Amino acid sequence: MSRRYLTIEGVVDPHVHLRGMAWAHKGDFYSETCAAVAGGYWLVCDMPNTTPATLTPDALRMKLDGIGAQAVCDWGVYYGASAEDNTDTFGAVYDDVCGIKMFCNDTTGHLLIEDQSMRAKHYAAWPSDKPIAVHAEGETVGEVLALVREYGRRTHFCHISTAYEINLLAAAKAEGLPITVGVCPHHLWLTEDDLGRLGAFGWMKPTLKTLDDRAALWEAINIGVVDCVESDHAPHTREEKESESPPYGVPGLETTLPLLFTAVVDGRLSEARAMELVSAGPRGIWGLTPPDGTYTVVELETDYILTNTKLMTKPKWSPFEGMQVAARVAETWIRGTQVYDGQKVTVLPGFGVNVYA
Ligand code: DOR
Ligand code: ZN
Repeated sequence: MSRRYLTIEGVVDPHVHLRGMAWAHKGDFYSETCAAVAGGYWLVCDMPNTTPATLTPDALRMKLDGIGAQAVCDWGVYYGASAEDNTDTFGAVYDDVCGIKMFCNDTTGHLLIEDQSMRAKHYAAWPSDKPIAVHAEGETVGEVLALVREYGRRTHFCHISTAYEINLLAAAKAEGLPITVGVCPHHLWLTEDDLGRLGAFGWMKPTLKTLDDRAALWEAINIGVVDCVESDHAPHTREEKESESPPYGVPGLETTLPLLFTAVVDGRLSEARAMELVSAGPRGIWGLTPPDGTYTVVELETDYILTNTKLMTKPKWSPFEGMQVAARVAETWIRGTQVYDGQKVTVLPGFGVNVYA
């Protein structure tokens, strides 16, 4: 077998839940950024549904300090939109974050905003052109599109999972609305048929869908409706997943590039498109320019089996365990320093910087 190496500049995962603080038992800013560089990422953007939730300037400051001290990759954080209305704090936080996140459907944490007039208030108040990232499923996608139409704010639709949603968004793009679309590896490689085997280890929001939905996402990737692949890395412990009421979410930082570039080896996806979906695509949406010497080396045509014990994410499990893949992250470089050598992380906690500060 002839191995090939691919160099990708500035690889970004704009959707991760690093946890930390009161949820450090699930993952902490060091363990999960180690998972990020082992997964080939230069930069990750952290979601606000933490404990404490990133809904106030104080909570934001606490998170910025924590990540700043521990991260081994570069990073940004989202500020959260609150159902209790925290729009009066937007001016104080805007400069330090990568955007805001609005949860319009139920999930882990307590950040749900169901009231359309409260969503509108956040749209009206967000001062700029940093993206509003939304968790919207099913008919909620149409409700958010109405806000985009009214307020013209740049909006990223996270983890789109159904044919219905992708069709709505394709039409909205054709209409010229300032929107972008992300999809997740679990919705591209798994379906609801895997739930019997995975149980709660296959539970996430949005949930796994049908084969037809999955096919629609692949089609949307290949015709350019999808702008980026985001992992929605959301670690929970094994014990939590095996409990009476398991939480939603699965780790994904270390499996996304291996899966995506296996699709390249298999001829399901062009090399250029795969690279775009994890680098130029997300970089364009979040306004990121990679510093000199910031790239990832991916080895292609190297067959192996995804194995939990190799993972750096704290809970050390993956819904993809046991899958045969044909690509691996060989090296990650940030600002001229090798941060991951294919086996281990080679920089100290605090190496990573908040590129939005
Ligand atoms: O499955 C999910 N888990 N979806 C989300 O939107 C949140 C995430 C988490 O934080 O666990
Ligand atoms: Zn998420």
